[in-house]
This record gives sequence, C-alpha cells and structure tokens, in this order.
Amino acid sequence: MHVARTVAEFRAPRAALGGTLGLVPTMGFLHEGHRSLMRRARAECDAVAVSIFVNPTQFGPNDDFDRYPRDEPRDLAICEAEGVALVLMPPVDEVYPEGATTTVSVGPLSTVLEGAARPGHFDGVTTVVSKLFAIVQPQRAYFGQKDAQQLVVIKRMTRDLLLPVEVIGCPTVREPDGLALSSRNVYLSPEERAQALALSRGLRRAEAAWGDGVHDAEALRALVCAEIEAQPLARIDYVSLADQGSLEECRGAIARDALLSLAVRFGGTRLIDNVLLPV
Ligand code: PAF
Repeated sequence: MHVARTVAEFRAPRAALGGTLGLVPTMGFLHEGHRSLMRRARAECDAVAVSIFVNPTQFGPNDDFDRYPRDEPRDLAICEAEGVALVLMPPVDEVYPEGATTTVSVGPLSTVLEGAARPGHFDGVTTVVSKLFAIVQPQRAYFGQKDAQQLVVIKRMTRDLLLPVEVIGCPTVREPDGLALSSRNVYLSPEERAQALALSRGLRRAEAAWGDGVHDAEALRALVCAEIEAQPLARIDYVSLADQGSLEECRGAIARDALLSLAVRFGGTRLIDNVLLPV
C-alpha cells in the first residue's frame, strides 16, 4: 500500500496502475461503513484508492471541525487490511492553495435539508470531491447511502460537469441494534446513544407502514416524529419526505420514489439517517 502525503507523491503510483481504479473518499476515523465501501470497490475495480482528508470548507463556524475525530494509524491499518493500493492524505494548503477562489456548487439541491441547516456545506463537499476526482482520476467512486443528500448532490455535480466517474451509492451500515454507523457516534453519551435508536426505529416503522400501503406524506412523517419526540434528549432538526431526484418535499399521496430522511440533535451531536421508499 502506498501512502501519499502530497499530491506529487500520489501522481507516480497512480500513473503506474493499470485497469480500473475505485475511489473511496473519506474524512478518516474509518468504521465498518467505510470498510464496506472499500470491499465493494475492491470487488468491482482492479485497484482501490482511499482519500483521507478532513475538509475544512464543508464545516460551518458552529460545526465540529476542530474536534472531528482523527486516528491516522488505525485508519492506515484498516486500509491495509482491506487491500487498498493507494492512500491520499493531502495537506489542507495543497487542496486549498493560497488565493484559490474556485468553488463548485450544484445550486438548489444543496440548499435544502442538510444544506439549509448547514449553509455552504455542500459547496464544500462538491468543491473537494471535484478536486479529489481531478487528483485521483478514478473510474468509479463509492459513497454511503447514509449521506443520502450528499449522494444526490455528487451525482448531479458529476453529471453536470461531464466527469468521467461513475458515482456508486452503497447501503447504510448499521450497528446490530439499528444505529447507523457514523464517525460522530463516539460523541454520544450512553443515554443519548440509547435514545438515538429511535431514529432507525422511526424510519423502520414508516418503511413498514409504506409497505402496508400508507403512502400519505404527512402520515409517514408523523410516524417518525412521534417515535423521536418520545425521547427526552432528542431535538428534531427536520424529518423530510422528499422526491429522490429533486429533493422537493412531498405533500399528500406520494406517487414517485421518495427519500425519508431526518436530522436529530442529541446535545452537541447531530445525527442523520434515512431510508428510500420506492414506489
Ligand atoms: O462523506 C464524507 O466523508 C465527506 O463528505 C467526503 C465525501 C469525503 C467529502 O469530504
């Protein structure tokens, strides 16, 4: 495994690789969710590259950039164990050279839901992912369905900019009790973690109701809210039922594939989760 700490160090081993390259972009503190992306990439590509870069531009002033968890030795051991060929860990001043003014924005898709709660977040994501695509030049890139809006936004960016990268969404990986894996789960106290199970429980209830023929947007949202509002430590940011492509909020009877997503705060920790509801 080659670990490149600068873009220059990355270029030669990248150029030496033949066949297809799959990229798993990450911000480190790798968990089973990232491992599942690496395994999928390994199964589908000749070689796998992982980027580890805590991207400052996708964090707002009140976000957790400074305390975002980091564990480089463990991350590299995981990459090695998953058969990753190349790891890219560029410094911030190389990704954002002094005086850089170019940003990438997909517009309206990036200002609803997560984008409304975290202004500028998705512009930071699309800017850094386009830079990572330019450096790594993968044929495929793998992202978790857990960050559902991120996936929609990155697919749109890739399509709009005609980038020769196939963007692949992979299923959310969960703890055995249902909690979606996230690097931020380490911030939860035992009480918060126990109450956070209401997120996946609420989504599962709505999914079951959907399967039973309940296709009314308000009724489905209410099911999820009731489950979460029963938790004293939970503060709902949003529970959304939106069109999977446009992310426009659904009203009344749902006729198109929908995305049921939510963001909930437990103290200073903000958790997101979602399920897809196909018509
Ligand atoms: O999902 C993440 O970890 C980040 O948003 C990403 C895609 C690596 C961009 O910084």
